[in-house]
Amino acid sequence: MIDKYNRNIDYMRMSITDLCNLRCRYCMPDGMRVQKLPMAEILTYEELIEVAKAAVECGITKFKITGGEPLARKNCPGFIKMLKEISGVQQVTMTTNGAALEENLPMLMDAGLDAVNISLDTLKADVFSEITGRNCHAEVIRGIEAAIDSGVKVKLNTVLQRGVNDGEWNDIILFAKKYNIDVRFIEIMPIGYGRGMEVVSNDFLRKELLKIYPDMKDDTSIHGNGPARYVKIPGFNCSIGFISAIHGKFCGECNRIRLTATGKLKPCLCYGETIDVKKIVRDNDRTEKQAIYKRHQRLVGVIHEAILSKPKEHCFENITKITEMKKMVEIGG
Ligand code: 5AD
Ligand code: SF4
Repeated sequence: MIDKYNRNIDYMRMSITDLCNLRCRYCMPDGMRVQKLPMAEILTYEELIEVAKAAVECGITKFKITGGEPLARKNCPGFIKMLKEISGVQQVTMTTNGAALEENLPMLMDAGLDAVNISLDTLKADVFSEITGRNCHAEVIRGIEAAIDSGVKVKLNTVLQRGVNDGEWNDIILFAKKYNIDVRFIEIMPIGYGRGMEVVSNDFLRKELLKIYPDMKDDTSIHGNGPARYVKIPGFNCSIGFISAIHGKFCGECNRIRLTATGKLKPCLCYGETIDVKKIVRDNDRTEKQAIYKRHQRLVGVIHEAILSKPKEHCFENITKITEMKKMVEIGG
């Protein structure tokens, strides 16, 4: 549906868990997070499907499954299959850290997953451990290779950190070239532990890239649902993307709303405002058939409300105005 600023909102990022098998320093640093949410706080798959059906009625046709790490929740592929079976759902994709991807791929393919974004911040096993707190770089690489072999569409996400992996961008680009997959560089956003971390700006990166690849050109073809701007380098079968939350506002083209794992609709990543759907999906006060009907109507109502309350733009450039205090892992990125 069209929001107040004439944007077509047709994409929902749905977080299905706050759990993760890694501990990335900009997201859920090792030792910092003491309490995981009780399972009862998290929407069940059946509840998520009810929300998705109402979202479809509001014009959402594409879903991205996020976490935490979505594969850290049991039977994530089964849930994706349920989502794909909803009439009106055109695309279901997933964001994963890749560590448990290889063993899940057959089920994900069977479920009909349309595409997968895999985080890859480094090609070095020791740097990987430094960034993620876990020693499983080889698993991630195997996950990426298995995904490519399976034929599912794959994109890489890279977050550069000054003094940690900021020397690796060209190696990651060459890795993407070797496999013919797009890679996007995401500027660290001032959400959760990313707040206060130094941002390696994509403007800087673009300039560095131009030095090595002076023939690179903007690529205006559509690559997905996201806010990335792409460039193409002659001789490369893949594109290089930049997601520049800080140094390039993309809010005019925003197409999304978010649902947190605890059932809160989030109109914008930057602000703390949410609209609760959990109390609606758990309302069982009538006969089953009536309850489902009533819940559906109410869900459609609040999703409309969330879309209409989307602000014009984020304020990541002005850290004092950011009202989102939750961690990235609770939101789903
Ligand atoms: N800023 C930017 N990207 C982040 N991610 C997690 N936290 C942040 C942050 N504060 C990235 C992960 C993953 C994607 C889903 O979001 O690295 O690639
Ligand atoms: Fe896990 Fe992704 Fe957060 Fe890393 S960024 S801790 S992989 S949810």
